[in-house]
Parts: sequence; C-alpha cells; structure tokens
Amino acid sequence: MRIVILGSGTGSNAEAILNSSANGQLDKAEVVGIFSDVKDSNILKHSKDFDVPALYIDPGNKNSVINRDQEKNWIYKIKALNPDLIVLAGFMRILSKNILLEFDYRVINLHPSLLPSFPGLHAIEKAFHKKVKITGCTVHWVNEDIDEGEIIAQAPVRIMDSDDIELVKQKVHAAEHMLLPWVIRDLANGTIQSR
Ligand code: GRF
Repeated sequence: MRIVILGSGTGSNAEAILNSSANGQLDKAEVVGIFSDVKDSNILKHSKDFDVPALYIDPGNKNSVINRDQEKNWIYKIKALNPDLIVLAGFMRILSKNILLEFDYRVINLHPSLLPSFPGLHAIEKAFHKKVKITGCTVHWVNEDIDEGEIIAQAPVRIMDSDDIELVKQKVHAAEHMLLPWVIRDLANGTIQSR
C-alpha cells in the first residue's frame, strides 16, 4: 500500500510513521512521499533522514483551503506517486470535494480528541478546560465535513487531576504516535477494511 502524507507543522506523526516503517512495523505499507503547504515546516525536514521525497506545494493563499487554481497542481503531484492512501498528519487545510473525489475518498485524518467530542482546532485544550477525565485521539476517514468522517480507531488518554496542559498534550501525542502507524499497518494488511 503506497502512502502519501500531507502535513503543515512539526511532523512528529510523520516521523512516527517513518520510524515504524524503518523498523519493519508497517507490513505492506510504504511511505512514498510527503507534501506540505508550509515551506519551512519541520515535516519536510524529517523525511531527509528517511530518504522519502518531500515537497512544498504552494496552496495559493493563507486560508484554510487550497486555492482553486492550485488544486490541479496538488492533485497532479500527489497522483504522480500513485498512492493507495493519503494520510493527513497535522494538515491544516480542508480538502475540497474535488480533491477527495480524485482520490476516491481514500484519505484518513488524525485528530487529537475522542471524536465526536471536541472537533476543530485546539481539541486538547478544549478537553482539558472542560475537565473531562478521559480524552485521546481518533483516526477517521475524511469527508467534506470537518472531523465528521467515519471513525476507524481511537486511543484513550486519562487526564489526572494533577496533570497540566503540557502533560496532557504530551500524553495525547504519545497516543497518536502509536495509533496512526497501527491503523496504517492494519489498513495495509487488511485487518481494517480499506476503501
Ligand atoms: C496532531 O496532534 C494531530 O492530531 C493534529 O495535528 C497535530 C499534528 O502534529 N491533527 P505533528 O505535526 O504530527 O507533530
């Protein structure tokens, strides 16, 4: 299964996926490329250690979507790698119906809460301030609605009364770094049904 990762930021999840792959833990999944809408993002830097092509693609604006004019370029560059699955790992733009259709909706996203609780931005902060005792992370199929697609897998994280926000963030990210590679492996080997 050929995987393309899209991300905008730190890239710790892309790194977790690449590490799992390097350790032979992804079974039939292979990362064939990483793309970012942010030129100097760390996610593009990680790939160098793993010999995976990583490219910035101009999104055409500063909004939360890819510019209509630029969409063709994104589709062209991603399609050139012939991916079976697109993984959104901290990608801060909403993919249009156009793009999703081009890839038959074979797109998954990682979200730092137990959806349907706390969709959207700042999910970890929202859970912490709501004083929930269990939060976590979710991997779901992507559709046109933000953080609404069918849930594939979740991992829980306990919030203890003594935890501060930084510790909760660390715990959620640690859970993400395990969950996302597992889901990719299971989609690749058929344990979880792919699209
Ligand atoms: C993760 O917390 C993910 O759930 C959210 O964005 C963050 C990306 O982190 N969608 P990183 O760039 O992989 O470190």
